[in-house]
Amino acid sequence: MNRIQIINTIIAKNNYKKYLEIGVNTPAQPGFSHNSINVEIKHGVDPNVDTTFKMTSDDFFAQNTETYDIIFVDGLHIFEQAHRDIENALKFLTDKGTIVVHDCNPTREITQRPIRASSVWHGDVWKAILKLRMERSDIIIYTINADEGCTVVQKGSQDLYHPENASDEIYSFKYFKKHKKEILNLISTKEFEKKMGITPTNIFYTLFSRGR
Ligand SMILES: C[S@@+](CC[C@H](N)C(=O)[O-])C[C@H]1O[C@@H](n2cnc3c(N)ncnc32)[C@H](O)[C@@H]1O
Repeated sequence: MNRIQIINTIIAKNNYKKYLEIGVNTPAQPGFSHNSINVEIKHGVDPNVDTTFKMTSDDFFAQNTETYDIIFVDGLHIFEQAHRDIENALKFLTDKGTIVVHDCNPTREITQRPIRASSVWHGDVWKAILKLRMERSDIIIYTINADEGCTVVQKGSQDLYHPENASDEIYSFKYFKKHKKEILNLISTKEFEKKMGITPTNIFYTLFSRGR
């Protein structure tokens, strides 16, 4: 399952109408995400792409007055920015809405550095998820172990994550690697499909979750 299929599945399941993407298509993968989303209203935010709002996510949220059913956070992959994007997205999310955050489950230290050091780059978005797991008891968070880790955030409640030892360097990749299952609330695609009420023959899945 890729991010498009995940987003389209959530849209179909909840009959969502309005989608916002922070960080739109890259030239390397033209039309990969934004154009493949099956939803009535689509808005994009990206300072480098001709999209609905050609500006940074910070500038967008500072002037925005609209709410969205589903927001895909895939802009600048740096801890503080990703955290701010998720916090801002929560402010403009409908009550039963969903945020999906991309690139939350890096498997190699080099790809998660805040300054790009390899051809594949996830950045340290995972730290934003850890912070939310420790601080926001008013949200639900889980991560689908697919397409580099797609984290789902919704309004609701969660048991906060508490590190075992206060002295641990919790924002180190070593710590993340050891505790990622609990930090991310990692689930398989099969578990996600079950959550969405999908069986392989489910017609809605076949019709609406197609992605490239
Ligand atoms: C990983 S790409 C997005 C890929 C796309 N969402 C997809 O699924 O294929 C990240 C995008 O974020 C944009 N970006 C960088 N800084 C940003 C910011 N401060 N606010 C919003 N978008 C930003 C970049 O221009 C780039 O197009």
